[in-house]
Amino acid sequence: MTADTRNILVTSALPYANGSIHMGHLVEYIQTDIWVRFQKMKGHNCLYICAADAHGTPIMIKAREENINPEVLVERISKQQLRDLNDFGVEFDNFYSTHSAENKKLVEEIFNALKKNGHIYTKDIEQAYDEKMKMFLPDRFIKGVCPKCQAEDQYGDACEKCGATYNPNELINSFSTLSNTKPVWRESKHYFFKLSNFEENLKTWIKDSNLHKSVTNKLFEWFEMGLHDWDISRDDPYFGFKIPGEEKKYFYVWLDAPIGYLASFLNFCKKNKINYSDYFDAESEAELYHFIGKDIVYFHTLFWPAVLKGAGIRQPTSVFAHGFLTINGKKMSKSRGTFINGRTYLDHLDPSYIRYYYAAKLGPSMEDIDLNTEDFVARVNSDLVGKLINIASRCSGFINKQFDNQLSNELDNQELFNQFFSASEGISNHFKNREYSKAMRKIISLADETNRYIENKKPWIMIKDEVLHKEVQGVCTQGLNLFRMLMIYLYPVIPEIAVNAMNLFNEKEWRWKDLGSPILGKKIKEYRPLLTRIEMKKVENIMTSKEDQSDKITKETGKITIDDFMKVDLRVGIIEEAKEIEGADKLLKLIVNLDKENRTIFAGIKSAYKVEDLVGRSVVVAANLAPRKMKFGTSEGMILAAGPGGNQIFLLSVDEGAKPGMKIK
Ligand code: MSP
Ligand code: ZN
Repeated sequence: MTADTRNILVTSALPYANGSIHMGHLVEYIQTDIWVRFQKMKGHNCLYICAADAHGTPIMIKAREENINPEVLVERISKQQLRDLNDFGVEFDNFYSTHSAENKKLVEEIFNALKKNGHIYTKDIEQAYDEKMKMFLPDRFIKGVCPKCQAEDQYGDACEKCGATYNPNELINSFSTLSNTKPVWRESKHYFFKLSNFEENLKTWIKDSNLHKSVTNKLFEWFEMGLHDWDISRDDPYFGFKIPGEEKKYFYVWLDAPIGYLASFLNFCKKNKINYSDYFDAESEAELYHFIGKDIVYFHTLFWPAVLKGAGIRQPTSVFAHGFLTINGKKMSKSRGTFINGRTYLDHLDPSYIRYYYAAKLGPSMEDIDLNTEDFVARVNSDLVGKLINIASRCSGFINKQFDNQLSNELDNQELFNQFFSASEGISNHFKNREYSKAMRKIISLADETNRYIENKKPWIMIKDEVLHKEVQGVCTQGLNLFRMLMIYLYPVIPEIAVNAMNLFNEKEWRWKDLGSPILGKKIKEYRPLLTRIEMKKVENIMTSKEDQSDKITKETGKITIDDFMKVDLRVGIIEEAKEIEGADKLLKLIVNLDKENRTIFAGIKSAYKVEDLVGRSVVVAANLAPRKMKFGTSEGMILAAGPGGNQIFLLSVDEGAKPGMKIK
């Protein structure tokens, strides 16, 4: 670590564990992932922390509908969410859950500190109660006729027709959406957090934290309307943490959710032997940034910094809020057919396309961003495939075929290279300031310049001329080095393609500091297409794809959908150890390396394999099977083999070059 290495903690909002990750969520997770990857490339110690937001009424109700414990529901959904996010290239350093021992402990500590410091009081309030379901109703579970404009079927807190906000008891003909009965009004004691104690501190924090001006403006509107104390308790039944000293009261999900950032980090610290308090002491110099959507600004810029201050914990360095995703100009909505799940996208298209497209549209403000399908196809095909990837395919062809893969020892035009390098500071600042659209514009303009350079030189003509033949090597080396620099710039945005490009140059890692040193006199690999054009047809398929059809298909045809198949996580494994087991005549005990971890797997292959022939060979592992207790120990996966048994067992392998842990798709 050098002196200017910074410790940076970054979070994205914790996704509610009651639905799938959709293209709207992905704006945030991709925006954050790009920023974190950029900071890591700059050599900073930057950690990306997230978790499942497990608590609250909607999750409790959904679990009830499925007749399972909320814990089971959360576990299932958050696993699926994490898988989807990972498949979009979103790489967390830790993904945990708010329903954890660490979080419970931190929530209680923070609550006790707030109480001790005089920021908590209790008060009886009246609330809508569903007598049939025997529970208090959150505003979203009450509907009725808008008192202002008489629109029917409006929620208990606000009218979607006229925009009015009101109390649920003002709704006309209100009913509970859970039981369709009329709610009654009941009193109960609630715990309140005195937000009003923090007005001065919040104003200072807002100044120091350099919030985007659109956020600051919003905050000052709220200050003008007056800060209201915050109801942080909910009555039984509720899925959450119990309030200490209470039997039937719980902390409101929005109190424990942001504390979940801390809990996930604490969990990371334990696993990696890091000192948690270095990051969270009141005086800590580590930086803390929250990426969020515009709908949850109030929670993150008023409640959250106030809670931290009140409990004597450091406040966030800044909060970065983005706008909402619209699709073809419309709000995302299931009924309008403008709702796209992440998994549906992945079934049809490469994640790099959308990562690039979002980057090309994202700025630092809360402005909404539109996924316009025609623009998406045009922009990706023209910028990424037509301009960028094209450079590599044009230049490497000559190097591969005419020069035995060998790059020249000198650049054809050092000055042009320097000029590209001098853009690095500007691009770096754009990434840092979340002006991704500006960064993309600059990078693509450099790609244009590279193509112009190649077109002027015309290596395809030079190659036919005996005198000029040798010069083609220098021109293509120049083109490839410019391409390499652009791919380093783009690594945070399209890491998967960048890694493949890095392989083309036989390199192991790209850091920001590698930008200035060209690759010369070395061999490159055979060029393989890095990305192909998007077909409009595939995008149309996404727009019309019906979710949740898999059960129906399975029942009617006995077949499974691609979604069902994708649930099996197949990975490349390398057998590290193979041992005979005393008393077992079929089984061998294998230790299989999956890169991030080693798995113990018991395989019934003893009749066909000798242990010494197994060590070092590659296998295909079903990696997300639930662990199975067997007589000799627990088996943590399965390796795939063909054949009837006996000495006729044939293990599946992968081609040489595949690395352990690689996903098989
Ligand atoms: N669980 C809370 C956050 C707790 S953070 C302590 C929550 N969850 S969410 O699943 O509804 O949303 C997660 C993030 O995705 C939020 O920042 C939200 O703003 C963002 N988005 C959800 N829908 C979105 C769009 N349509 N467009 C862009 N971002 C969107 O809120
Ligand atoms: Zn209305």
